[in-house]
Amino acid sequence: MRMVDIIEKKRNGGELSTEEIKFVIEGYTNETIPDYQVSALLMAIYFEGMSQSERADLTMAMVESGDQIDLSAIEGIKVDKHSTGGVGDTTTLILGPLVAAAGVPVAKMSGRGLGHTGGTIDKLEAVPGFHVELTSDEFTRLVNEEKLAVIGQSGNLTPADKKLYALRDVTATVNSIPLIASSIMSKKIAAGADAIVLDVKTGAGAFMKDEAQARELAEAMVRIGNNVGRQTMAVISDMSQPLGFAIGNALEVKEAIDTLKGEGPEDLTELCLVLGSHMVVLSKKAETHEQARKMLEEAIKNGEALNRFKAFLSGQGGDASVVDDPSKLPQAEHKIELPAKTSGKISRIIADNVGTAAMWLGAGRATKESEIDLAVGLLLQKKVGDEVKEGESLVTIYANDLTEVEKVKAKLYESIEISAEGHAPALIVDQVT
Ligand code: URA
Ligand code: CA
Repeated sequence: MRMVDIIEKKRNGGELSTEEIKFVIEGYTNETIPDYQVSALLMAIYFEGMSQSERADLTMAMVESGDQIDLSAIEGIKVDKHSTGGVGDTTTLILGPLVAAAGVPVAKMSGRGLGHTGGTIDKLEAVPGFHVELTSDEFTRLVNEEKLAVIGQSGNLTPADKKLYALRDVTATVNSIPLIASSIMSKKIAAGADAIVLDVKTGAGAFMKDEAQARELAEAMVRIGNNVGRQTMAVISDMSQPLGFAIGNALEVKEAIDTLKGEGPEDLTELCLVLGSHMVVLSKKAETHEQARKMLEEAIKNGEALNRFKAFLSGQGGDASVVDDPSKLPQAEHKIELPAKTSGKISRIIADNVGTAAMWLGAGRATKESEIDLAVGLLLQKKVGDEVKEGESLVTIYANDLTEVEKVKAKLYESIEISAEGHAPALIVDQVT
């Protein structure tokens, strides 16, 4: 097989065979095919697209390029959740214990990453003592006993995707639905999930800002998952404004605790119940979404979800007493209110700008080398559709370093619109099965 023939075939709109796709991915992973040929192929894919079977083949070739996590020692149907990323998305912290309380085994592999706040692991590390350095035996035992554990990312998961993503980044080929969908799905499948619930965000704070594109990505990922034998469904949810009130690491842990107690923000609670119900059904712990939702609501009411969270934290070395006393979480030195300049209704809170402001405070990493300050962040006092009076606080800023605060305030004023009218956007835009 010759790479040049494969490039030509795709350039002319042809469909690549399973063997051809394997040849490319293996060759690129072991460096027998150079960047320039793969770049040319990526550009051809960008313009010509990929058929359903090409997408499934690409996904599985990337899965097979590195380690695959074997979760077979864990009993039950393992369901994973993946979000395409947003601002203040605290759902993973809540969903784990919530669906675990309904008997769903959650064997989660998580990362840190760049962004407005840290990743799931950074957030959890706000709990004193908590760690994700587990042996695979400990991980299996914890999931079997407590139904929930989180482990750090294995170094050699989908190396082909890592190389391809970096190459796409510098060849203007990131924004291709088949390439994005295969990239995301390969990582979920390599991490061992039997079934996958996707939360595809749309709006200003989302990777796919446009609703039609979010829908296309959701459909593409669902088809790949189902075509390679992993039951997959997607929820498309609003990310025009941040989710919940908290954006920051310790602040989001506190928000997760509140939500598990039944005292969380309405949008965050609803999204967790919707995503969680799908996880429970895919794991075959309930037959219908109505049943599943009742189980989850009951687990919040009777304290089981909160107990699961405590057991999970202490199982991984964390101080579970933070759940009853959140003042034990890292606390910022300064709390600064942002007063509204006029009265009216909140008509817009631009999620990505608010996320950037949180990052300036130190809640997230701008580069891989940045240090996170777990204590800092933002707590929205108002959401879109809320009434506000002049002088009332819009946001509480939690800061340690005051040098960035004026810039943060200006950014927040720019990002929050007050008008005569304002309506909360629909949270659940659509579902794709
Ligand atoms: N996120 C991914 O993991 N892969 C992509 O290609 C785009 C976003
Ligand atoms: Ca939040």
